[in-house]
Amino acid sequence: MPSTTLKDLYVASLQKMYTGENEILDALPGMIETTENAGLQQAFQDHRDETANHVKRLEDLLNGVNADLGDAEARGIAGLIAEGEDTIGSNASIEVKEAAMVAVAQQIEHLEIAAYGTLCTYAEMLGRGEDFNQLQQTLDEERHTDSKLNELAKEIINGQARGD
Ligand SMILES: [Fe+2]
Repeated sequence: MPSTTLKDLYVASLQKMYTGENEILDALPGMIETTENAGLQQAFQDHRDETANHVKRLEDLLNGVNADLGDAEARGIAGLIAEGEDTIGSNASIEVKEAAMVAVAQQIEHLEIAAYGTLCTYAEMLGRGEDFNQLQQTLDEERHTDSKLNELAKEIINGQARGD
């Protein structure tokens, strides 16, 4: 159904992220299982807990605008997850898999940062201050995860370059 008002677009975007966050939640256990680097495994575990919280926040926000959870597609996130699964299923070395998983995870974070940034703007324009605060909190957590992954990526890639 095409979005006709900013409020419709806001709801449709919340529903899309609801689908996307659930897909991330389903994908993280496979990434945790594949990872051997302790720091990376911990980062994925922490992010799984945060993601469960992001799902809950989206449920509350959709509830607050009297909308259902919908059955939107989140093709961008699904495409990136599929790339991550290709990596997990490949016969690359664990170090290469870890480097590739961090890269995919960061691409997902960047998509989420853009999407939550937009949602914050919509919430503000719609005068929904409490929604804005909730979305901003998720946005901050996504940014924090991204910078943590950035540090880990450097560590993993440097380790490989040195042959550790
Ligand atoms: Fe998230």
